[in-house]
Amino acid sequence: MTDLAPVAAVVVLAAGGGTRMKSKKAKVLHEVAGKSMLSYAVSAASALVPDHLVVVVGHLRDQVEAELERLDESVTSQVQEEQRGTGHAVWCGLRGLEDLEGDVVVTYADVPMLTGDTLRQLVAVHRAKGNAITVMTANVTDPTGYGRILRDGDQVRGIVEHKDATDEQLAIREINSGIYVFDAATLRAGLDNLSTDNAQGELYLTDVLTHAGANGGQVGAYVTDDLWQTEGVNDRIQLARMNAEMNRRILDEWMRQGVTIVDPTSTWIDVDVDLAPDVLLHPGTILQGATTIGEGAIIGPSTTLMDVEVGAGAEVIRTHGSFAVIGEGASVGPFSYLRPGTELGAGGKIGAFVETKNAKIAEGAKVPHLTYCGDAVIDEGANIGAGTIFANYDGQRKATSHVGRNAFVGSNSVIVSPVDIGPGAFVAAGSAVTEDVPAGALAVARGRQHNSEGWAARRRPDSKWDKAAAAHDGSIHPKVAASREN
Ligand code: UD1
Ligand code: CA
Repeated sequence: MTDLAPVAAVVVLAAGGGTRMKSKKAKVLHEVAGKSMLSYAVSAASALVPDHLVVVVGHLRDQVEAELERLDESVTSQVQEEQRGTGHAVWCGLRGLEDLEGDVVVTYADVPMLTGDTLRQLVAVHRAKGNAITVMTANVTDPTGYGRILRDGDQVRGIVEHKDATDEQLAIREINSGIYVFDAATLRAGLDNLSTDNAQGELYLTDVLTHAGANGGQVGAYVTDDLWQTEGVNDRIQLARMNAEMNRRILDEWMRQGVTIVDPTSTWIDVDVDLAPDVLLHPGTILQGATTIGEGAIIGPSTTLMDVEVGAGAEVIRTHGSFAVIGEGASVGPFSYLRPGTELGAGGKIGAFVETKNAKIAEGAKVPHLTYCGDAVIDEGANIGAGTIFANYDGQRKATSHVGRNAFVGSNSVIVSPVDIGPGAFVAAGSAVTEDVPAGALAVARGRQHNSEGWAARRRPDSKWDKAAAAHDGSIHPKVAASREN
C-alpha cells in the first residue's frame, strides 16, 4: 500500500471484565496462534505509526500492563477504574491528550484477526472521503448483540445498540465492528456530550456518531468483507473458533509458500513460526513459538516443537522438543524428548526413547536408543550405546560430562558426572564410569562374569531347566559363532 501519513493516536480498548472467559487471566492475554490477543491489537495499531498508542486498561490491569511492557515500550496505558461504557473508555484513553489534532483510531484488544493493512485502508478511505468519522462495518447473517448501522445512503446517521433497538432496527444486518477513525475535535466534542440515557446506562462511544451527524459532520462507513477481522472473543468457544480460523489462514499461507501439509486439520502452526520451501509436515504436527524449519525437513507425525530450530533436510518423527537446535540432515525420533539446551549437530542422531537436556551432541554423533543425556558434551562421531544414562544429578548439584571425538560408550553404561571420556576411548557395556577415561583407553567398570557350572543340575534336579541343559550338546548357536568370526 502507498505511504500513509501517521495518525495522531490509536486508542485500544482493553478494560472490560471478560467475565464469560471465567478466567483468572485477563481476557486479552489469552492466546491465538501462540500470541496474546493484546499483542495482535498492538501490532495492528502500530502499523498506523501513531504519535500516541494508548491502551485503556481496567480489569486485571497489572497483568495487561505487564504484557504491554513486554510487547513494546512505546505503548502507554490509561486506567479506566470503572467500566462505564465504550465512550467513557475512550475518554479515559485520551486523558492528557486534550489538544490532539488529526485522526484518532479506536480499536478493541479482543479482535485479534484485525490487521494493520485493514486499519491503514480504513484510514485511507476516511481521508479520501474527507469524513469526520468513519466506522468499519460488516453485513452479517446474524447481527444479534451488535450495534446496528442507521444509514441515509452513504451517510451514517447513527448506531443503535441491540438493547436499544426497535423491531425495525433489529432487522438491519449491517453491524458496527467497534473500529473507527475520528477527527480528534469531533471525537472530543462528542465525548463531552455523552449521556447514560440508554438501556444499559452506559456512556456509548456510538453516540459520538449521532452527535457529529447532528452538528453537520460527515460520517461514513467502511464495509469489510472479511468478517473475521471484526470478530471479537468473549468466551472460550469463540477463542477456539478464532484459533481454528487463524490456524487455517496460517497453514494456507505456508502451503502457498511451498510447504506440504499432509493433514491441515491436525496441524497447528503458531504465527511466528518460520518454514522453508519443501518442508513436509505429517499429521499431528504442532509448531510453536519461534520454531524454524529448514528446507526439505520432514516433521511428524505426532510431533510438538516449541522454539526449536530444525536444519535443512533433518527428520523429526514423533518427538516433543523445546528450546532445542537440530542440525542439517540430523535425525530425531521416534519417541524422543528434547528438552531445553539440546543441540544436535549436522547428521547427528537422537533416537527412540532418548531424553536430552542441555546436551551438545556434535556433528555425526549418535545417541540412538533408550538414553538419558543431561548436561553432556558429546563430540563429533561419538556413539552412545543403548540404555546409557548420564547421571548428572547427585541430589544436590548438576554436573557435566564430556565424551570425546569418536569415543564409543557401550550399552547400559552409567556416566556418573562429572567425568571426561577422551577421544577414541571405549567404555565397556554395563560400566558405571566414575573416573575419567584417557583418550584411546578401554574402561571396564563392572564386575567380571562368573559361571557356576552345573548349577541347574545341582539346585533344580529334574526341572525343565535341568532337562534342557542335559539335552544340549555344548555347542554355541551358529549365529553367535558367525558373529564372533566377523
Ligand atoms: C460495542 C458497540 C457495538 C458494537 C460492538 C462490536 C458501543 C456502545 N457498542 O458493543 O455497537 O457492535 O461493540 O463488538 O460501543 N470496554 C472498555 N471499557 C468499558 C466498556 C467496554 O474498555 O467501559 C472495552 C471492552 O473491553 C471491549 C470493548 O470495549 O474490548 C467493547 O466492549 P463491549 O462491552 O464488548 O461492547 P459491546 O456491548 O459488545
Ligand atoms: Ca463485545
